[in-house]
Amino acid sequence: MRHLLTLDDVTAEEIQRIFALTKDLKAKLEDGVREPLFPGRVMALLFEKPSLRTRVSFQAGMAHLGGSSMMLGDDVGFGKRERVDDFSRVLCEFVDVIVMRCKRHETVEQVAKYATCSVINGLTDLAHPCQALADLYTIQEIFGSLRGSKLAWVGDANNVASSLAQGCGLLGVEFSIAAPKGYEFSAEFLQSLRASFPNLQLSASNDPHEAVRDASAVYTDVWTSMGQEAEKQQRERDFADFQVNEKVMASAPDDALFMHCLPAHRGEEVTSGVLDSPNSVVVQQAGNRMHVQKGVLAWLLGMQRG
Ligand code: CP
Ligand code: NVA
Repeated sequence: MRHLLTLDDVTAEEIQRIFALTKDLKAKLEDGVREPLFPGRVMALLFEKPSLRTRVSFQAGMAHLGGSSMMLGDDVGFGKRERVDDFSRVLCEFVDVIVMRCKRHETVEQVAKYATCSVINGLTDLAHPCQALADLYTIQEIFGSLRGSKLAWVGDANNVASSLAQGCGLLGVEFSIAAPKGYEFSAEFLQSLRASFPNLQLSASNDPHEAVRDASAVYTDVWTSMGQEAEKQQRERDFADFQVNEKVMASAPDDALFMHCLPAHRGEEVTSGVLDSPNSVVVQQAGNRMHVQKGVLAWLLGMQRG
């Protein structure tokens, strides 16, 4: 059974297939056509953290494809009423795909281990693969190709950054990151990235201006991710020099995109001036979450029988 827990679960060819499905489904939707490719198929969503984009885009996308979805609440007792293996095996008797947002990546891995239907990671502490796919699709959509692109990440080397770095490795996009000391990618992650993608042009520094030089897109995310709220004040001090503001954008090419997975904390990791600038593609990015996830669903459900 195929799952999408991190971008280690897909090849470059499979991403291109997902992007082709996305392009087709998005064009059809723009023409008012909602092709019911998967009537009767059912998606369960199980979220341990809040979500606007991921949850609503998956549910809307599944509806467009002719299927249905259900948001599982506390009443199902996940992690409380029964063992995860029992939960996973039983849930798969009812549904065709499970989307999960979990505090710990191991939880999604546990469910996937016993699942007889596909499991999709809708964000964990470790990875946010659907976000990275939508972001890379957005860059490709805007520039017509990813060839020669460079994505510059400014801020925490977090779940979104990790998935983007992997996505860049898979699709041949240069990746640079500027993170404060102590918030960088681990040596192990960098080592595995370099081992998996020997051709990846990868640079890591503590200088936002250096990172964004020659960038096609400048990307940032919140300083304090969900679950890290106790560190908020310390992080505000540590990330103070890592705000993406007009000065940082001035070090990037004039046509560099500004990207953010959202939700944004205006005045912290990004100024309103940058977020609302003509270079900002954050709303297109968010919209593409739905289109690309429809591509992911078409790819995953297309492999399943009936
Ligand atoms: N970017 C993203 O995943 O947003 P939500 O937390 O609203 O799902
Ligand atoms: N890094 C953020 C992403 C939110 C979409 C978090 O994990 O909270």
